[in-house]
Amino acid sequence: MACTIVIFGASGDLTSRKLVPALYELYRKGRLPPEVRIVGFSRTPFGPDAWRSKLGESTARFLGSRFDSSLWQRFAGGLFYHPGDISRPEDFASLAQRLDELEQGREATRIYYLATAPRFYEQAVAQLGVARLAAETCAPRRIVVEKPFGSNQASARQLNDALHRVFAEPQVFRIDHYLGKETVQNLLVLRFANTIFEPLWNRNYVDHVQITVAEQVGIGHRGEYYETAGVMRDMFQNHLLQQLTLTAMEAPARFEADAVRDEKVKVLRSIRPMRPEDVLANTVRGQYSGYRQEPHVGPDSRTATFAAVKLFVDNWRWQGVPFYLRSGKAMSCQSTQIVVQFCRVPHMVFGGAPHSVLEANRLVIQIQPAEGIQLQFQTKVPDAGMEMRLTDLDFRFRDKFADDIPDAYQRLLLDVMLGDASLFARADEVEAAWGIIDPILGVWEERAEPALEIYEPGEWGPSASAQWMARQGRAWFDVCPVLR
Ligand code: BG6
Repeated sequence: MACTIVIFGASGDLTSRKLVPALYELYRKGRLPPEVRIVGFSRTPFGPDAWRSKLGESTARFLGSRFDSSLWQRFAGGLFYHPGDISRPEDFASLAQRLDELEQGREATRIYYLATAPRFYEQAVAQLGVARLAAETCAPRRIVVEKPFGSNQASARQLNDALHRVFAEPQVFRIDHYLGKETVQNLLVLRFANTIFEPLWNRNYVDHVQITVAEQVGIGHRGEYYETAGVMRDMFQNHLLQQLTLTAMEAPARFEADAVRDEKVKVLRSIRPMRPEDVLANTVRGQYSGYRQEPHVGPDSRTATFAAVKLFVDNWRWQGVPFYLRSGKAMSCQSTQIVVQFCRVPHMVFGGAPHSVLEANRLVIQIQPAEGIQLQFQTKVPDAGMEMRLTDLDFRFRDKFADDIPDAYQRLLLDVMLGDASLFARADEVEAAWGIIDPILGVWEERAEPALEIYEPGEWGPSASAQWMARQGRAWFDVCPVLR
């Protein structure tokens, strides 16, 4: 079936940096439905061809050698611009008319993509309702909502209610681009298409799990947004908790949207709620030195750019196993990894090294960069008595699969077109995730504790984070990408 994608926020960064390059890549690979139109909607008064040529330039810049200008010309034939203001019902009425003209009476799936600033989401949804653009009388109508999805549980619920007044839940696709990353999806394959990991994937063999999303960059020009978000809202409520749920969830009966999301929601609901004293004991917060001098950041800002949090999943599989989540800007390197730290051997049979210094097995799932998996285990050093050393088995996606790993948005956009919501968050899922974050923010915003620790850019966050782990008899796995 033909497909029309309407992008609200068409003149913004997300459209030029992610959405249009991903759609062009899908076109280049022949994955788009035969008739796809992309209609941009925003206030900027572009002339008929100006939006197309602006996007041509940005797509060429982002894709480098993968950009082919004659192919782009053909793709760009399906790009249309409709100037409009989200606050004006008449602009939605004229949009509806324009869509009918473009589709010439043929049935087409319509996808409305909210790539605007989040404060316009509710209004845009309501206007789509008034203009009768959401009704599925003859063909599917879907809406894609970018993060941030609310700024706490109450506002997320309010946004869900606003969506549900116009769209049914199966029409709603809440994006978390981490779920579109190949390695994040591979976590499900690793766990549920192999037998060897499952028997070990529980409290009997796992000492703890670390999930780190470290970014080398600071906040750049996003100070205004970041000041309202901080690392908790920007990274934890979505990307880190998504990775936690995929690591901890039970196998769904089938890889189908609701079966997968039911299991994820169960994990979120099993996470032990934090009382204020738990927040003090189980969280670390930091800010990189120089953050307060970034554009649009106040000189006395107390926004956290780094956080470490310890969570427990109270169920049979994970009781007593801490999940350490950590993320920060201006860290030593870009590295997203999930480390499953196995327990030590119960008894040391070899003399020499004491039991306590023998490192236990570790499975490192490297989400980015250089996507892959590393399994670490002890080996005998040849010709050195029974001396042992931690060695590894490495798997790199790039070694096994020649093609470039696609950007997350390609998979996600294709799934929206196909109506597959497995990799999108459900209403109850986002609300449950906020239910974990709200108590932390409540304490952080009201109290001076835990102290906001300043760290130097280029480090692994504040030293308080390493000390906090050491007090628990553990250490962060601070290795800049284990796989290169
Ligand atoms: C976004 C955050 O959701 O994710 C950014 O708003 C962050 O602050 C980005 O930089 C990280 O995504 P990725 O794919 O670069 O790891």
